[in-house]
Amino acid sequence: MPDVHRALPVRRLAPTFMGEIEDFQISEPSVAEHRDAILGAFLDHKVIVLRDQRITPDELAAFGAIFGEPDPHHIVAMRHPDRAELTILSNQDEIGRNPQLKTLGSGWHSDYSYKAIPAAATLLLGVEVPSHGGDTLFADAAAAFSDLPEARKAELRGLRVRHQHRWMPDRSHPGARWNVLTEAEQAATPEVIHPLVRRHPETGVESLFIAPCLLAGLKGIEGMDESRGLALLEELGEHIVSPKYVYRHVWKPFDVVVWDNRCTNHRATTDQLPSSQVRRMYRITTKGTSPIPA
Ligand code: SIN
Repeated sequence: MPDVHRALPVRRLAPTFMGEIEDFQISEPSVAEHRDAILGAFLDHKVIVLRDQRITPDELAAFGAIFGEPDPHHIVAMRHPDRAELTILSNQDEIGRNPQLKTLGSGWHSDYSYKAIPAAATLLLGVEVPSHGGDTLFADAAAAFSDLPEARKAELRGLRVRHQHRWMPDRSHPGARWNVLTEAEQAATPEVIHPLVRRHPETGVESLFIAPCLLAGLKGIEGMDESRGLALLEELGEHIVSPKYVYRHVWKPFDVVVWDNRCTNHRATTDQLPSSQVRRMYRITTKGTSPIPA
């Protein structure tokens, strides 16, 4: 009989975040009974890693339910044909997909920051991973905010950021919204405004909340001159991804990584991966709540 009361052993991987849960199989029938311990590890470490999880899409979906309600990808071609809540990330040519989507996520961001209700958790299962390359980088946006001088923090609280999915100053860029999204997908992704500093709904911790990659659609700061706003966002983006806040996850087959989009940023590196190195992942993103201003 599995001991559902055992504490889950978690090994810290980086100074301020990242925990590897050791000796645990998602496919255990008792997985739902470990819910509190798993959620506790997730909130404490912001990103959790579980190695060697040979699980089915159904088992991944059942595990994902621990972190909330799934939010299927708004680009319909990204969805798993049989299970809409699963997104398939692939660096290969896939039928019906814009080739730009092969490198999806290869810029620092927080998932769905461009939606009115951004993501809470994202789960990624390494179904087919390259022998080298294709790593995912994570940055601790809460630690990055916490380290700022108090006067700076006070200036930033209260500012609001304009986001829009794949908005770019150059409309003709092949990755811009007008060239990647269908008309319906464009209509489903209007501009949204979120606090620059958000308070985590469960831990109360404050974090910078931006996608530090302009490609992910930062349009500026509400009420601020466009170039000043973008310069401030760029400066904060560089701060979040300074080496002391960043951890590199090197994928092994069947790793599952779950990250908290409310206090971290991440980026794929598939833009640097040759297509001879196949990388295919299943992803589930869960619905968060409207960001709480700090
Ligand atoms: C993502 O941005 O959601 C995916 C990250 C990755 O593919 O490493």
